Amino acid sequence: MVHRIPVGVLGASGYAGRELCQLLSEHPVFDLTFATAHERRGERVTVGGRELQYLATDDAPLGAAELVFSALPHGASGPWVHRVVKEGAHAIDLSSDLRPGHSELSVPYGLTELTRPALRGASLVSNPGCYPTATLIALAPLLAEDLIVPGAMVTIDAASGVTGAGNSPKADLLFGEVTENYRAYGVGNEHRHLPEMRAMVAEYGRDLDLLFTPHLLPVARGILATLTVPVRYMPDDLLGVWRRHFANEPFVEVVSSPPQLRDVVRRNVVRISAHAVAHVRTPTVLVLAAIDNLVKGAAGQAIQNANVMLGLTETWGLPV
Ligand SMILES: NC(=O)c1ccc[n+]([C@@H]2O[C@H](COP(=O)([O-])OP(=O)(O)OC[C@H]3O[C@@H](n4cnc5c(N)ncnc54)[C@H](OP(=O)(O)O)[C@@H]3O)[C@@H](O)[C@H]2O)c1
Repeated sequence: MVHRIPVGVLGASGYAGRELCQLLSEHPVFDLTFATAHERRGERVTVGGRELQYLATDDAPLGAAELVFSALPHGASGPWVHRVVKEGAHAIDLSSDLRPGHSELSVPYGLTELTRPALRGASLVSNPGCYPTATLIALAPLLAEDLIVPGAMVTIDAASGVTGAGNSPKADLLFGEVTENYRAYGVGNEHRHLPEMRAMVAEYGRDLDLLFTPHLLPVARGILATLTVPVRYMPDDLLGVWRRHFANEPFVEVVSSPPQLRDVVRRNVVRISAHAVAHVRTPTVLVLAAIDNLVKGAAGQAIQNANVMLGLTETWGLPV
């Protein structure tokens, strides 16, 4: 008989929480036991053909779950995941509260392809931000092979669909503001995802500046990140750098033509291409990475991490 694992989701009425509930309904051993909401507590919804009622987070029966995902806003989430661990369950925090660069605690960072050994058997994991997921997986082979010019500036221009901003009402996210439009935000290298990106670059012992500019795309989901990276020399087989690094990774696709959002939406994958830049004096590589912000950038990666934490098959319940 298969051992079924009771699971709870805090913040289940948000974009990331809803995606989690949907993916959990297709997981072979996880059983959604409770789901919480704040304003929408008490509401009944149907997920994966099953009706459930959102509880208030304060009423969540934490002790009834072996694993709890928190998709609460940052600030609210950290205290809850500590409470979950105290109750003896495993916890995965999708907020930024416990990520490197945000917290003094050294909580394993769940960028699965890059940090897998630290996740096995962990009771608490901090799930990465959506932009850092695309950016760091794209950059990792160049960091690992020490190919980036020391002290160089790596420029990251990335665009996200509107679900990246959560589902609480905001005037600048109204349909009339977003549609047929394209704009940058967080301009000036101040975005709250930068600390975790810098912390991971430091883990590789590399001395770099990151210049990150996010943009808002008039689509519901998806991120396309374009990284401009000065390199020490141009490898003969440029794409081979990524192909070797990610040879056995089921959720990383290395391709020769630039990835598009439609290649990755509703899938737990990162699709990457790399190109030598012509007509510049410093050898420079352009790396492009596309993900679905709600799947590989949030709920999908959280389930991938849960599978690793609990010693299950890593691909279980995940759309490839
Ligand atoms: N959206 C993404 O692409 C993405 C990607 C990676 C990580 N994340 C992270 O995942 C978390 C959730 O993001 P989201 O986009 O899903 O946000 P969201 O759509 O705004 O959802 C937030 C959830 O938390 C609940 N909530 C709000 N304030 C609360 C409080 N004070 N106490 C208890 N519950 C509260 C909301 O309930 P009600 O709706 O009922 O009020 C809702 O269920 C955030 O920490 C975010 O940084 C999001």
